[in-house]
Amino acid sequence: PSIPGLLPPAGTAWSAERIAKQYIIPCMKYYGICVKDNFLGRQLGDCVLKEVEALNQSGKFRGGQLVSQADIPSRNIRGDQIAWVKGQERECQSIGTLMAHIDEAILYSAAKGQLGNCVINGRTKAMVACYPGNGAGYVRHVDNPNGDGRCLTCIYYLNKNWDVKTHGGLLQIYPEGKNVVANIEPLFDRLLIFWSDRRNPHEVKPSYATRYAITVWYFDAKERSEAKEKYKLATGQKGIQVPVTQNSRS
Ligand code: OGA
Ligand code: OGA
Ligand code: MN
Repeated sequence: PSIPGLLPPAGTAWSAERIAKQYIIPCMKYYGICVKDNFLGRQLGDCVLKEVEALNQSGKFRGGQLVSQADIPSRNIRGDQIAWVKGQERECQSIGTLMAHIDEAILYSAAKGQLGNCVINGRTKAMVACYPGNGAGYVRHVDNPNGDGRCLTCIYYLNKNWDVKTHGGLLQIYPEGKNVVANIEPLFDRLLIFWSDRRNPHEVKPSYATRYAITVWYFDAKERSEAKEKYKLATGQKGIQVPVTQNSRS
């Protein structure tokens, strides 16, 4: 018998193709939001969590930056601490594996025009974020309100035994034109995907325990090249484009 959480049940080995077909493609089509639990499995998820905790303890995190609104102290808008990771750093190998897995699932999903109009040709580095648990959150916002090229937001959560009633930290998404709220708990080994544009305004409610998440944004080729032309993009880390991992299992 398998050890619970250590290995997936027989016949359900990790497969980007299965996750794409069973979750990402249909959920994005109908809701514009997709939640996949047990994305990496407990063993690899634990390794990612250990790397993130070590990054935090080594003082690598800085106050989250805003692209615009330079006149407002950013902590009034977002109270997280962040670090950018390429995934090739020696101390971030499991985070690199996570990024490769997300790349693979997203590339499968976007193949053959199955992900709306998105033609994915790159992504950002990974943003590792920590809400320290002092009641800080992130006010309602849109990740990409003005066509900077980011089409998909992918967030991987790392929080064990999270209880929103005592710890807060709920992510609330208000899908445009629908009178509903999606309440997403930031649970360990959960992957969340949503359109980065005005279709999905969202906010992080105040967090009263250490709350970790890793975010990558994928670029749409056309919107990205138009944005580079329009703004002569030089806007920090989100302007750094790295190619997505191809055939990461081979
Ligand atoms: C926007 C916008 C705020 C919100 O920038 O398009 O509407 O919560 N943002 O809807
Ligand atoms: C962000 C964000 C949501 C979350 O960093 O832009 O909205 O649940 N994060 O951490
Ligand atoms: Mn956001």
